[in-house]
Amino acid sequence: MNICFIMYPWENIDPENDTSLALIKECAKRGHGVAMCTPANLTIRDSVTNAFCNVIGRMDKVPSTLKSFYNKAKLREEMLPLAGFDAIFFRANPPLDPLMLNFLDSVKDDVFIVNSLQGMREANNKLYTAAFGDAHSNIIPNTHVSKNKKYLVQQIKESKADKMILKPLNGFGGSGVILIEKSAMNNINSLLDFYISAGDGGSNYVILQDYIEGADQGDVRILLLNGEPVGAMRRIPGSDDHRSNVSAGGSIAKHTLTKAERALCKQIGPKLVKDGLYFVGIDVIGGKLVEVNVMSPGGITYINKVYKNKRKVEEKVVDFLESKVLDQLQAFDRRARLRKAVDEA
Ligand SMILES: Nc1ncnc2c1ncn2[C@@H]1O[C@H](COP(=O)(O)OP(=O)(O)O)[C@@H](O)[C@H]1O
Ligand SMILES: [Mg+2]
Repeated sequence: MNICFIMYPWENIDPENDTSLALIKECAKRGHGVAMCTPANLTIRDSVTNAFCNVIGRMDKVPSTLKSFYNKAKLREEMLPLAGFDAIFFRANPPLDPLMLNFLDSVKDDVFIVNSLQGMREANNKLYTAAFGDAHSNIIPNTHVSKNKKYLVQQIKESKADKMILKPLNGFGGSGVILIEKSAMNNINSLLDFYISAGDGGSNYVILQDYIEGADQGDVRILLLNGEPVGAMRRIPGSDDHRSNVSAGGSIAKHTLTKAERALCKQIGPKLVKDGLYFVGIDVIGGKLVEVNVMSPGGITYINKVYKNKRKVEEKVVDFLESKVLDQLQAFDRRARLRKAVDEA
């Protein structure tokens, strides 16, 4: 089959640790055609959605390590129609550009897309956890989202907890996630002004969330494929940071899912599948869901490293992709046969 990865530029890949690269390599190893493009490379040519792609040249033998695969891969540029691919694996970083999704709308019935466009529309930022309707904070920490500075300051003052988390709606890799303490309120107005008015024309929502005790021991990243956990790891913050993200200095350790974490996956899995969110990474602290990453969840390479798994996570993901594409091809075939029968009647 042929797969198009819509993702960050090839030059930005960390050849030792990148999850997209692990997926690409697994596809190449199985003899599938792989092309990559960035969202900015989508183009309509003669009324058909195309992309300026980097196509990976076929290799007789795919090198065993990610780094050597990255170094040996030969890329050639080609403009290709997206509907000609069997699958699109979307792996660009947030924020999601809604215009880009409109390009993909034109091919969504022809190509299997991970994650589904509808799913990405619904879940591309941290508001998605609110869709689980958890008014009693059983699965997500108590959360406020607002642009209203007065309201947010009031919530901090009224909160029983001394610590809270402030973060932007669209961040990733821990960027902009800060710990605020009631004992140090002097900066709050200025911080909120900054968060709310950041960026071009700035009028941003801000998330204010109860700090989950125990977060200093790290969080748990769980990768879910088709609603089921396929890998997990603990991320432990560095000594001088409260955030567990690896890009913020966190380190990785093995983790076996607790009963509460397994129950959480069972509870949210069916909704993820219903929303077309086939491959996601959730962040969990103390059994509570902090975030659902649907755009380019990472962690495959780290999980493989700490577990030395025989069956690597990317193999399971590409198995799933192959089975979905096969289902789709069979459905196309069936429809063609039925049309022919009616045509010839
Ligand atoms: N409510 C919270 N309580 C404690 N720590 C938190 C909370 N929210 C975020 N963090 C810390 O900050 C990190 C990044 O937050 P997250 O919401 O996952 O945003 P990002 O998209 O930047 O990864 C988490 O992995 C965790 O270490
Ligand atoms: Mg996170």
